[in-house]
Amino acid sequence: MKKASAKANANIALIKYWGKRDENLILPQNGSISMTASGLTAHTTVDFSKNYGEDSLVLSGKRMGPGCKDYDDYVGRFLSVVRKEAGTRLKAKISSRNNFPTSAGLASSAAGFAALAAAVNEALGMKLNKKELSVLARRGSGSAARSVFGGFVEWKKGVKKDGSDSYARQIFPPEHWPEFWMLVCLSSRKEKKVKSRAGMQQTVATSPFYGCWLDSVSDDLKKVKRGILEKNFSLVGKTAEKNCLKMHALMMSTRPALIYWNAVTLEIINSVWRWREEGLECYFTVDAGPQVKIICLEDRIAELERKCRKIKGLKGLFITKPGEEPEIINRHLF
Ligand code: PMV
Repeated sequence: MKKASAKANANIALIKYWGKRDENLILPQNGSISMTASGLTAHTTVDFSKNYGEDSLVLSGKRMGPGCKDYDDYVGRFLSVVRKEAGTRLKAKISSRNNFPTSAGLASSAAGFAALAAAVNEALGMKLNKKELSVLARRGSGSAARSVFGGFVEWKKGVKKDGSDSYARQIFPPEHWPEFWMLVCLSSRKEKKVKSRAGMQQTVATSPFYGCWLDSVSDDLKKVKRGILEKNFSLVGKTAEKNCLKMHALMMSTRPALIYWNAVTLEIINSVWRWREEGLECYFTVDAGPQVKIICLEDRIAELERKCRKIKGLKGLFITKPGEEPEIINRHLF
């Protein structure tokens, strides 16, 4: 038993995961592909000890613990899984910090749970391999299964009831296509009202289009995989943009309707389309939040950044490219 810290990057899905087939085990209805995002990082420290009477968490300065819904539904549940797997009853003290806004549609939970899984594995000496670590991170937040790897990552939906075949793997390392960049445009710093977990549950239950989504995802997955292999930027960009719009159509057709966009989101989407018509090749993707990620090649980043900074209402800009897998570090947060 020792105090351990880890760092992990968020990831941005090119082909999205939206909908679970098992809420408890966090098993997806469809496969997904993402890019691990360099520099959008969570730093987490965990310590298990008999000195702690109960679990505690400090998330970006905010203190939480048992009895707090956000804590119980996520970290509390995750720690129960960890204790069962590791065969311990010890309570944990956790501190975690992101260098980007939390719960605003920027995959903060993916970075957070990948870092927490890596730190827990180290702290409890669980000796999990990468596949097992991906399965563990998945139990915190589905998309975290992908942040256990660097570069381009695929999360297979799996078919087994116990979820043992639903884990992510790296399909290409960051060095395969280091010119594949994204500009993350912040259009709001507020936390979203409906979290992905609740949102996707409502979609599966109520969207009349959910079956169409499932029917078309495997084709999107194949195209993006081939596109990354061949470094065919147009194919990856077009497919990712189309897949994102399909997911938002699902969200909008959910009852009650889910619209994660704001006016600035739409302004950026329209700008991307205009810039593309003018010959500046770029595409967009948007997750369960209002932030737009513009996908482009490295040589267009300076021009795009200049253009984005002129957009009224823009709250911030991050530039990211294929990033590395989680890392155990010696810098502890307490
Ligand atoms: O893993 P969650 O519950 O944060 O869900 C992630 C859902 C999306 O970000 C919208 C899509 C994805 O695949 O990352």
